[in-house]
Amino acid sequence: MLFVKYLSFLICSSSTSASLTVREQADSRSVYVGNVDYGCASEIIKQHFMSCGKVIRVTIPANEFGLPKGCAYVEFDNIDAVPKALLLNESELHGRKIKVCAKRTNIPGMKKIRGRSTYVLRSRRPSAVYCRPGYGSAPRFGRSMRYRPY
Ligand SMILES: *[C@@H]1O[C@H](CO)[C@@H](O)[C@H](O)[C@H]1NC(C)=O
Repeated sequence: MLFVKYLSFLICSSSTSASLTVREQADSRSVYVGNVDYGCASEIIKQHFMSCGKVIRVTIPANEFGLPKGCAYVEFDNIDAVPKALLLNESELHGRKIKVCAKRTNIPGMKKIRGRSTYVLRSRRPSAVYCRPGYGSAPRFGRSMRYRPY
């Protein structure tokens, strides 16, 4: 029992918690909602998506005049709610047909793999530079040999 618990902790920490930041995890649980009516309160949006899963927060971005941009982000407490929310694409909300897309478009872990490969390239270069002064110091060593009999 304890072993199984430990194993699941290992799987969880290596595949999700360790490789994704808090922000990325929140994005993976969020959907973008477009064509939202300006008069549509966040509470109405929340109720519209409540059938998909528990809504943690509704964010309505505003323009420079503080007016809603006509879109919203809905964050769920579970990633399983996202495919259900996508089914509400083109559903009617406050008299408008809304657009629903997943907020996160890139594959989790891609950034980390890219970062690792650049690290490998970087670590090779300094070692190549480090080798050259070794050859350059050889004549200096010969000079000191010349002075030794004196
Ligand atoms: C939502 O519907 C629009 C219009 O039909 C479509 O172009 C878009 O691909 C759909 N998006 C998703 C995530 O299904």
